Amino acid sequence: MSGGGMTGGEAPAADLAALRELLLGRPAMARELPGFVPEAAPAGPGELFVSWLLDALRVESPDAQVVTLSTVGLDGAPDARIVVLRDVDPELGVWWFAGDARSPKGRQLAAEPRAALTWYWPALGRQVRVRGEVTPGDAAAAGEVFRLLSPKSRAAALVGRQSERLGTAQEFWAAWGAAERELAAEPGLVAQGYTQYGVRAREVEFWQGAADRRHLRLVYRRGSRDDGWRRELLWP
Ligand SMILES: Cc1cc2nc3c(=O)[nH]c(=O)nc-3n(C[C@H](O)[C@H](O)[C@H](O)COP(=O)(O)O)c2cc1C
Repeated sequence: MSGGGMTGGEAPAADLAALRELLLGRPAMARELPGFVPEAAPAGPGELFVSWLLDALRVESPDAQVVTLSTVGLDGAPDARIVVLRDVDPELGVWWFAGDARSPKGRQLAAEPRAALTWYWPALGRQVRVRGEVTPGDAAAAGEVFRLLSPKSRAAALVGRQSERLGTAQEFWAAWGAAERELAAEPGLVAQGYTQYGVRAREVEFWQGAADRRHLRLVYRRGSRDDGWRRELLWP
């Protein structure tokens, strides 16, 4: 392993050469992957998602639920970051995550309430893409969920100011200490801005990779009159 990249210098030539060799010589998904029979897939995407996420949690890592959330930036350009999937409602086709309404993503979602969620589970060679409209959940319910979070997660949320410029790490430690004292004094405290967001899917795509590159893609789209889901295969 090389130095760690905090010095601001360029990667040593040997590292870069080794990396380039790896990038060219290491095809993705070159291993045995599960089969997928799209014709046998359930009528709606929620059930299939639940089974794929359970598979991923069993064989991948305990973080298989983390997902890339893409939003539309206030400048109209795409933006993306990782969040944790908090819940899924297979009946309604809604995927839930939580964040601070005052953060960039929160402000972006207030201005343009549409988003995409993208998972990739390497051990299974599977990708899932969800696109849809985003609605903030009920504030009282969010408060109840917040109180169930670990003390450290609650302290982190109470610190707030997410994505603002931080002068020094010491300022952060001080704010963290203050948040812990606040929580100790008032254990039921809910961080201002803590919000659960539901992505109501319009479209959900399941992508099963194959080592021989004969990947399979199945997309579910909501009918225009909300009368169930249409399913179709896509060319890979
Ligand atoms: C594994 C992992 C899980 C994360 N989970 C969340 C989350 O559930 N909610 C959240 O707001 N940020 C989460 N973050 C932090 C975000 O990726 C991001 O840094 C932060 O929300 C600020 O994003 P924004 O500036 O686009 O609002 C997580 C980051 C990682 C790496």
